Amino acid sequence: MSQQRTLVIAKPDAVRRGLVGEIIGRIERKAGWTLTALELRTLDRATLEQHYAEHVGRDFYAPLLEFMSSGPSVVMVVEGERVIEGVRVLAGATDPLKAGPGSIRGDFGTIVRENLVHASDSEESAEREIKIFFPER
Ligand code: TYD
Ligand code: MG
Repeated sequence: MSQQRTLVIAKPDAVRRGLVGEIIGRIERKAGWTLTALELRTLDRATLEQHYAEHVGRDFYAPLLEFMSSGPSVVMVVEGERVIEGVRVLAGATDPLKAGPGSIRGDFGTIVRENLVHASDSEESAEREIKIFFPER
């Protein structure tokens, strides 16, 4: 058993396109995974600067923050067996055209920036990111 927790964001494009239920549904149906926090929230710059600190200086950084603050997101914590790698697999590759069919990005995305979903990429990232969005946990 490897119980983990991860931070997942259904990004503003997912909310605008009515794909939140689809995304949560795919997560909920995985055996033994549980949603332990969930909130609709428009992310502010300060929060996004912390969240995407690793990407400061990249050419996509400014447009990424602009997009991520452009409307409400659904921010959640999911707990369960191998959930960190598991949600990354459900999400698919960063570029939706390289994400396999059957993945969220592969099924619904075309634009790299508007790729529907964020998922923590390691235990360290998950703990860091959960603290940013849900400091009480
Ligand atoms: P990254 O952490 O590399 O991808 P992932 O979300 O799969 O962990 O990048 C963070 C986000 O930045 C990514 O989801 C979409 C955006 N992005 C771009 O807009 N252009 C790019 O070239 C890259 C690499 C990312
Ligand atoms: Mg990343």
